[in-house]
Amino acid sequence: MAANRPIVLIGNWKMHKTIEEASSFVEGLLSGYTSEEQKIVGLAVPYTLLYPLSAQTAGEFLKIGAQNMNEAAEGAFTGEIAGRMLVDAGAQFVLLGHSERRHLYGEDDDCINRKVKRAVEAGLQPILCVGESKEQFERDETHRVLEQQLSQGLKGLDSDKIKNLIVAYEPVWAIGTQQSASSQIAQEAHHFCRSHLGTLFNKKIADMIPILYGGSVNSSNADELLAEPDIDGLLIGGASLSLDSFKQIVNHHYQKQTGYPT
Ligand code: PGA
Repeated sequence: MAANRPIVLIGNWKMHKTIEEASSFVEGLLSGYTSEEQKIVGLAVPYTLLYPLSAQTAGEFLKIGAQNMNEAAEGAFTGEIAGRMLVDAGAQFVLLGHSERRHLYGEDDDCINRKVKRAVEAGLQPILCVGESKEQFERDETHRVLEQQLSQGLKGLDSDKIKNLIVAYEPVWAIGTQQSASSQIAQEAHHFCRSHLGTLFNKKIADMIPILYGGSVNSSNADELLAEPDIDGLLIGGASLSLDSFKQIVNHHYQKQTGYPT
């Protein structure tokens, strides 16, 4: 993490938790934290949890966000949800282009680009997820894939539109596999993303964009990953589902950064 960028820790709950389960998790997470600086922690939750959790966390450091949205403003799209509805329900950010959306639901870079634009228009902070598959990694195509996903995903957005952008590098081979990328591999990919963002916008802007790492993050590897200069935060799937393991990552980081007692 570089000194001029905040650390961002986001849990991705995927398709987990009922309202009751989620609110007792959040109650446990909120208790004990008072520092203003803890505004960097967020949870990307299922749609049904947006409203109750954003009401529960009003005025607290914890941000609540969604995991997807439709690219249209509104219309006849049965089963879909619009960015302005997410905002209405209290979402502050949205994950876009997560590899599960790309691979299981066929979202391509053009579709993700339309979603990023719509999210910005709706006032949501976009977290654009990028990352190569196992085969692409083995064929040494990581840079090509990242370059394409960033260029296409951010096409047509000028610098004032991406002021709040967060990028998440999530190698597909590390997601849910208990095999995180090593901190060296992750740092190299993050550095590449940052320099490509510099060519898409400019270096000053690229230096301000937080780039998160995601893929089998847990309390044992979080610190080592965060110690790398271009890793500004973590997108945490499995380990964000249990209050104990998520708190361990958050507390650990806070002890280090602010001396906050656990
Ligand atoms: P994981 O998921 O931490 O369970 O690997 C990360 C993600 O999919 O965002």
